[in-house]
Amino acid sequence: MLRSFFIYLSQQKSLRRMMEHSAFAKPLTRRFIAGNTLEEALDVCQRLNAEGIMATLDYLGESVTVVEEARRCCAQSLRSLEEIHRRGIEGTISVKLTQLGLDIDEGLCLEHARQLVELAKRTGSRVEFDMESHPYVDRTLAIVERLHGEFGSVRAVLQAYLFRTEADVRRMNELGVPVRICKGAYAEPDSVAYAEKEQVDARYLALSKTLLGQGTYPAIATHDDRMVAGATPFAADRFEFQMLYGVRRDLQRKLRAQGYRVRVYVPYGEAWYPYFMRRLAERPANVLFLARNFLRF
Ligand code: FDA
Repeated sequence: MLRSFFIYLSQQKSLRRMMEHSAFAKPLTRRFIAGNTLEEALDVCQRLNAEGIMATLDYLGESVTVVEEARRCCAQSLRSLEEIHRRGIEGTISVKLTQLGLDIDEGLCLEHARQLVELAKRTGSRVEFDMESHPYVDRTLAIVERLHGEFGSVRAVLQAYLFRTEADVRRMNELGVPVRICKGAYAEPDSVAYAEKEQVDARYLALSKTLLGQGTYPAIATHDDRMVAGATPFAADRFEFQMLYGVRRDLQRKLRAQGYRVRVYVPYGEAWYPYFMRRLAERPANVLFLARNFLRF
């Protein structure tokens, strides 16, 4: 119930405009957002690297409808890759294709994505293509597969809650595309996705086992101890754990200390509202955390 309400709020454009421009909202988002600027986010990545934790840098933004904005977002992600390389950061970037223009023109979006993957390959990094809501899955995977064929240096993201994901896992494994498996963060209809947490968890465990057994260097993206325990019997050099900035730092450090590879997803930028609201949707206790900080502010 509460989850659906926050996901609904995450899609409200007028609320988004108001929140992203409000001075009081910024301090409240700090737990989950590394900063407004690339420099702040790179500092966070370097601090993580110093603890032996890798990063994937996300310039926040999605649902872009203006060509100039898509171009600007592409240029910013190119800068992220250049700076990761220049500072010697152990890191990749994560992007959403609707940020690169998927809703405007698929050809333009592909061209932007290609520029990013080409630079990632040249600099020894990788582009991780976040997965958005279900109407985008086919188009996103088509672009990822194409760029995997041209360059490598990509990662696809699949969501355990979608009925289709078992077939997508099989296909990505056959093609040798590395996959990040997550539970899924959007409000999806019953016709395409499992609704119950127990069902999603069971699918997650089964799909991660298939990826760990047959996939190419998968990423197990979760903060759930039970999902983590499903992966730990597999050889630590065959996969990595991924977690979000500001979530379960205890678990991030513990897994690193046990010798597992851990990568943290580090979001930055001004367009924080939809990402932030999805984090609230995932855990109602975050709303209490926010309310306490708001009263203190
Ligand atoms: P679950 O939601 O069951 O949470 C398990 C436990 O983890 C909770 O009890 C709590 O302790 C902790 N926790 C989880 N979320 C928290 C939060 N927001 N704040 C505080 N504690 C929290 N989704 C998507 O649709 N497309 C994508 O591309 C991605 N990409 C992505 C990258 C990475 C690195 C991660 C970790 C996650 C994603 N996701 C995503 C989000 C994912 O689909 C999912 O919504 C969240 O990871 C929450 O699911 P958990 O597996 O953590 O389990």
